[in-house]
Amino acid sequence: MVPQSQDPRSLPRLLAEKAIAEGDPLAWFERFYRLALAEGYPIPWADMKPNPNLMELCERIPDLRSPTNLLVVGCGLGDDAEWLAHQGHEVTAFDISPSAITHCCRRFPDSPVDYLVADLFDPPESWQKHFKIVLESYTLQVFKGSLRNEAVLRISELISPSGLLVLISRGRNESESAGTMPWPLTRDEVDVIPELGFRELFFEDYLDRSEERPIRRFRACYQKL
Ligand SMILES: C[S@@+](CC[C@H](N)C(=O)[O-])C[C@H]1O[C@@H](n2cnc3c(N)ncnc32)[C@H](O)[C@@H]1O
Repeated sequence: MVPQSQDPRSLPRLLAEKAIAEGDPLAWFERFYRLALAEGYPIPWADMKPNPNLMELCERIPDLRSPTNLLVVGCGLGDDAEWLAHQGHEVTAFDISPSAITHCCRRFPDSPVDYLVADLFDPPESWQKHFKIVLESYTLQVFKGSLRNEAVLRISELISPSGLLVLISRGRNESESAGTMPWPLTRDEVDVIPELGFRELFFEDYLDRSEERPIRRFRACYQKL
């Protein structure tokens, strides 16, 4: 049993700091899910419902509503993947945490979603340039430093020509401190995407008021050239 403070982010922050200090910055995800799911601790990003920021974006961008093969990066407990599958997409959803994926399969036993354990930094070869839509929401913001740039590159490689990359993240100005995990992205970090051979179709820097307190977010859609 781990003592819980009032802030549901304190446990994942503690585990993230420890893993980073140990030089194994991806180790904390499984450690956290295993503990949280076993002990019933809150998982701060898992609202157990589809992300309203994603649902709104799909309303605004018709191409996101055309059923196609779609990959969800770092799918967590699966709510976005399930919603996208119900929109008609053929969804593959992966996470580095085996506990998270096992939980998705238990929660949605009859799901059409193909859930699997995989590491974004070492994805299956068959995924290269394979997906017409790739969704990344709230995963880049749990990577720091060079890992974040590498993650953007790895994601870009999974998208087929003319395919779409959808990004939803926390946002901040360069001059603001990144603070504690989750570490918001800067516009410069997002602007590497066009340099990787994408055309920006949509970019929004806005306050998400669906949370208890407003959160600054970036929401964007890019098309691979
Ligand atoms: C902040 S959570 C967001 C989860 C989900 N996208 C959501 O919006 O609820 C980040 C997720 O990325 C997963 N993740 C972290 N590193 C990963 C990696 N290298 N490959 C795949 N998934 C990863 C974590 O296990 C976690 O589920």
